[in-house]
Amino acid sequence: MRKPNIAILGATGVVGREITKIVDELGIQFNEIKFLSSAKSAGTKLEFQGKTYTVEEAKPESFDGVNIVLASAGGSTSQKFAPEIVKRGGVLIDNSSAFRMEKDVPLVIAYVNDEDLKKHKGIIANPNCSTSQLMLVLKPLHEKAKIKRLIVSTYQAVSGAGLAAINELTANTKATLAGEEFENKCFKKPISFNVIPQIDVFCDNGYTKEEMKVVKETKKILHLLEELPISCTAARVPVYNGHSEAVDIEFENEISPDEVREILKNSFGIKVIDNPDNFEYPTTRDASGVDPVFVGRIRKNLAFNNGISLWCVADNLRIGAALNTVRICQKVIEMELY
Ligand SMILES: NC(=O)c1ccc[n+]([C@@H]2O[C@H](COP(=O)([O-])OP(=O)(O)OC[C@H]3O[C@@H](n4cnc5c(N)ncnc54)[C@H](OP(=O)(O)O)[C@@H]3O)[C@@H](O)[C@H]2O)c1
Repeated sequence: MRKPNIAILGATGVVGREITKIVDELGIQFNEIKFLSSAKSAGTKLEFQGKTYTVEEAKPESFDGVNIVLASAGGSTSQKFAPEIVKRGGVLIDNSSAFRMEKDVPLVIAYVNDEDLKKHKGIIANPNCSTSQLMLVLKPLHEKAKIKRLIVSTYQAVSGAGLAAINELTANTKATLAGEEFENKCFKKPISFNVIPQIDVFCDNGYTKEEMKVVKETKKILHLLEELPISCTAARVPVYNGHSEAVDIEFENEISPDEVREILKNSFGIKVIDNPDNFEYPTTRDASGVDPVFVGRIRKNLAFNNGISLWCVADNLRIGAALNTVRICQKVIEMELY
């Protein structure tokens, strides 16, 4: 197998640092690697696999000779550099929402729709974090009983909004406990001791952009019909890391909670913790820092025919961003798609 030259764009960010760790953990075989950021962090020293690297400011020439770029530097940065990367023959694996819904851009969760990677024309998109963790759960259940309707409620950690949001939760909590005034910057309302029913901006239909990402991206990844009803409510909660989701699924065909448990126990990337009698169900503390998508509280849904409800928790920085990005990179190398 050929070994690519790799660049990590956004290497100094929350997701970029996680990507760097996971490139090492998954043993990605590369020829050369470089770390890119904005001018602000250029010059930062990074330790990786026993060597010290200097982070460079990303410029078009930075992508000369680079085969695969793992990007987590925001939508406008990806839009700016994508043509430069593709022009030079590189493949961009992008974490931002800039290209996700474009027709020619595969939107991929590794081990769910790997075949879609073959259609790439230089850009591959990584789904939104709240969509990502759901796909590994829904794919095997859809194969068995066919999804007819889906309702998702998310409880999303602040790390999903980047480093500044993590720091705001700490500062806001300290200020609240000390009875001090606090100016919210990352969120529209105080995040400490609060739940905020808004992530991203509102759309004309009353849903937020984050909620509509779950709706549209789920259909694209699972190749569902456009008219299949999906609804999502996304809330930000004062948790540092790990998104939780309450998921209600109506299926075309009958499927029991026991069957769901059995299918998910044998599915890639899933860990079932489901013994409510012993208070065993997954929480964000179980999921933060590890790879599996955890599922529990699997039960018959009382509102639907052939309905199942479940609780799904995962590390939003890993499966929701960095882990899937690196898994895609691994597939691109294995399938020789660069
Ligand atoms: N956090 C999540 O759970 C999550 C999940 C899925 C997707 N994402 C997406 O991933 C991206 C990054 O998120 P994050 O949480 O890691 O943000 P972050 O902590 O704010 O990091 C942003 C990174 O991008 C770099 N950057 C910013 N502007 C740049 C420019 N003009 N040129 C080159 N590099 C630039 C920054 O470099 P400096 O250090 O120099 O500023 C930094 O390395 C966003 O698109 C976000 O939507 C995040």
